[in-house]
Amino acid sequence: MSRVHKIASMPGDGIGIEVTGSAIAVLNACAELCGDFRLDFKELPYGTAYYKETGAYFPPDGLDEVRQFDAVLFGAVGMPDVPDSISLWGLLLAMRGPLQQYANVRPVKCLKNILPAVRTVAPKDIDWVLVRENSEGEYAGQGGRSHRGFDWEVATELAIFTRHGARRIIRYAFEIAQSRPRKLLTVVSKSNAQRYGMVLWDEVAEEVSKEFPDVKWDKMLVDAMTVRMVHKPHTLDTIVGSNLHMDILSDLAAALAASIGIAPSANIDPTRKSPSMFEPVHGSAFDIMGKGVANPFGAVWSAAMMLEFLGEKKAGDMLMESMEKCCEEGKTTEDLGGKMNTKQVTEALIENLKI
Ligand code: NAI
Ligand code: MG
Repeated sequence: MSRVHKIASMPGDGIGIEVTGSAIAVLNACAELCGDFRLDFKELPYGTAYYKETGAYFPPDGLDEVRQFDAVLFGAVGMPDVPDSISLWGLLLAMRGPLQQYANVRPVKCLKNILPAVRTVAPKDIDWVLVRENSEGEYAGQGGRSHRGFDWEVATELAIFTRHGARRIIRYAFEIAQSRPRKLLTVVSKSNAQRYGMVLWDEVAEEVSKEFPDVKWDKMLVDAMTVRMVHKPHTLDTIVGSNLHMDILSDLAAALAASIGIAPSANIDPTRKSPSMFEPVHGSAFDIMGKGVANPFGAVWSAAMMLEFLGEKKAGDMLMESMEKCCEEGKTTEDLGGKMNTKQVTEALIENLKI
């Protein structure tokens, strides 16, 4: 009997729709080839079109609906005619927090034949796992605005750091570091200027590190971290940081390795009480949406992470190997130096799947 995994697909907006379609086609081809598992997809229509129709990005019972699935495959959310704060909080952040997907895992490496963006970085230098705190910190959603429209208008944006939140994400990052050959973790901080939340963060890192005597770790202030990523990339392996810091560093990491178009992410609830959500790091890409040229690799790599999370590691590896082969053959989109469109790359990915 073949294993069945129930997946909610949420393509969302812009190129999210294009790359999710591509990932689903590759996933289905992979499952068929393997023959021992099946993916049961249901598309959920949430996104800007749904918002314009109903007034909400996500229905009130949306979380219950999503909880029926084993995983969510997400595209992107955001359109030019809706403020980004409304779309992001309306859909993506409406799920990450309540579903307690507190670990956002973003692997970065250079795919075969793809040259890094800057000359200080050699392809072998980048093989990182970035771990982002995904439930609190700078994106906790606390704050407000008073005296709207007046010159003395005030806006506050409160960052929330809890001992529990810091401990669980730092421990999770130590576990990832421990599972990798180099057993190396860098904790990103900003405790020189942010003297409360980030100092707590550092103290928790010290405490948790005692549970992992075999992991070598160091601390890095976020500004200096950008320099280290560019000038000494080979000194890094697993990296953990706050919601905002890793949001920014992961875009830099993806750009260094080639293109934001390949960057994958997994929003994980490590307790597995709620489904985890897999999505490319990029957004709706207003400048290329509708043109059929978006790179589907970020979505396909995210799909590979989903397969691994669901216990289908062999199938996940097949997706990764197929992407590497496409890169070797130059069958890529323009952002990776190729000439193919999304549809052609998707076909090449399916063709290159090998069991
Ligand atoms: P973006 O990631 O959509 O685009 C940044 C740049 O990267 C653009 O030039 C775009 O063409 C390029 N790019 C992104 N993905 C690509 C791909 N797969 N292939 C080739 N090129 C690619 O970021 P931006 O412009 O800041 O945001 C656009 C919208 O997306 C906004 O509404 C924003 O809020 C939203 N957004 C949503 C995210 C999500 O749903 N997870 C994440 C980031 C942004
Ligand atoms: Mg981002």
